[in-house]
Amino acid sequence: MFDIIISNGIIVTGSDIFKADIGIKDEKIVSISSSIDKNEAKKVFELDGEKYIFPGTIDVHTHMQLPFCGTVSSDDFTTGTKAGACGGVTTIIDFTIQSNNTLMESILSRREEADNKVCIDYSLHASITKWNENIKNEIKEVIDYGIPTFKMFMAYRKEGRLSDDFALFSALSEASKYGGMIGVHAENDSLTESLTENLINQGKIGCEYFPQSRPVYTEEEAILRIIKWAEHTGGNLYIFHMSSGLGTDAVEAGKIRGVKVYAETAMTYLLLNDEKFKQKDGHLYATCPPIRKVEDNCRLWQGLKEGSIQVLATDHCAFTRKQKDMWEGNFTKIPYGIPSIEINAPLFFSEGVNNGDISLNQFVNITSVNPAKLFGMYPEKGSLNIGTDADIVIYDPNKEVTLKTENLHMNVDYCPFEGKRVKGYPILTICRGNVLFDGKDYIGGDFKGKFIKRGKVLRI
Ligand code: URP
Ligand code: ZN
Repeated sequence: MFDIIISNGIIVTGSDIFKADIGIKDEKIVSISSSIDKNEAKKVFELDGEKYIFPGTIDVHTHMQLPFCGTVSSDDFTTGTKAGACGGVTTIIDFTIQSNNTLMESILSRREEADNKVCIDYSLHASITKWNENIKNEIKEVIDYGIPTFKMFMAYRKEGRLSDDFALFSALSEASKYGGMIGVHAENDSLTESLTENLINQGKIGCEYFPQSRPVYTEEEAILRIIKWAEHTGGNLYIFHMSSGLGTDAVEAGKIRGVKVYAETAMTYLLLNDEKFKQKDGHLYATCPPIRKVEDNCRLWQGLKEGSIQVLATDHCAFTRKQKDMWEGNFTKIPYGIPSIEINAPLFFSEGVNNGDISLNQFVNITSVNPAKLFGMYPEKGSLNIGTDADIVIYDPNKEVTLKTENLHMNVDYCPFEGKRVKGYPILTICRGNVLFDGKDYIGGDFKGKFIKRGKVLRI
């Protein structure tokens, strides 16, 4: 007896596309066959032969209930993961918050906030903001615990998060010994800080000046520098929220030289540009690094198509209009961050697969297989193999949706893509055999996600 049979769908994996039925039992995929007897199931989803069955979307970059810029991001681990489920996301990776505590203390305290609250599966990256011998000695323990990825900052000195080159170099070296990976927020801190000072001194504090405070070369330089450290240590390196064409060039060049460097981008960087900052409510689009120019959008798309960028994530960091109002006309006071967990992958499907030249297999690789492999969760996550977690999203490639705040589930009162028409949208999300989204609403009831103990980074 199966718990669920999904019948007559088109299964898409990272390498194959074929019609088949899927049988699910006890949270796992237990059968994939050209025809499964439907009398054998408690619940049957009969499709029409035209819907795509993908492994659930994995978002490796979220910030739920993050204390940041004098406030706390408005999606907590419950609302944010429910919204994710409504956009086909079945696993997220959020971040710990290190202050003067040990890495393990920061992991356990963030787990207290997330366990029993998350409505899809989740893990954490261990943030490192204070590097010393003790933290270095903890790296192996953290990887053994099931967290093989670390986040370090090349920006945010004022916020106490900046790592210097020695810290970055040492962490790359140490993590790679045990199959871990260092992810970075890559922006040159001293330049962004001094450019910001200069703008303030000239009274240029409106949000139209925000992009000038963090120009593309500040990202490019940081990426080039950290790639150099990865090259010399042999460490695994991941660039979070890559926003620019020049950054993409740097990653591609590093890869050609054999550096183990990987990168993510987001739909905000693929579709939006800095003209937004000249418009009313431009401050709602402020995030770091900033959204750039049309030529950056194009180069990032090319990077995804050609494989120099491997992952689409969100950097989902929601702040309500009221929270964003804290800026009071001064861009340095904007709570930085944009909400998008619910709409990122559907936008990618619409713009990339339906309107562009991202293949179905590439869609699956970029939204699920590559994140699962790079972040140590494959094949349990990111595959549709027999015996693995039944994490599934089904897309109707013809379903048309106009994105509107009132129809979305994120705990925020604006949508960065308000009014945008998308074609192709999730109609069903299943996390470990539990149906969470029915094409309209979250229907997961009391289902809770679990903390995923991750393994070593799988190089791709
Ligand atoms: O500006 C951004 N990216 N906000 C989210 C917080 C973070 O640390 O990335
Ligand atoms: Zn982030």
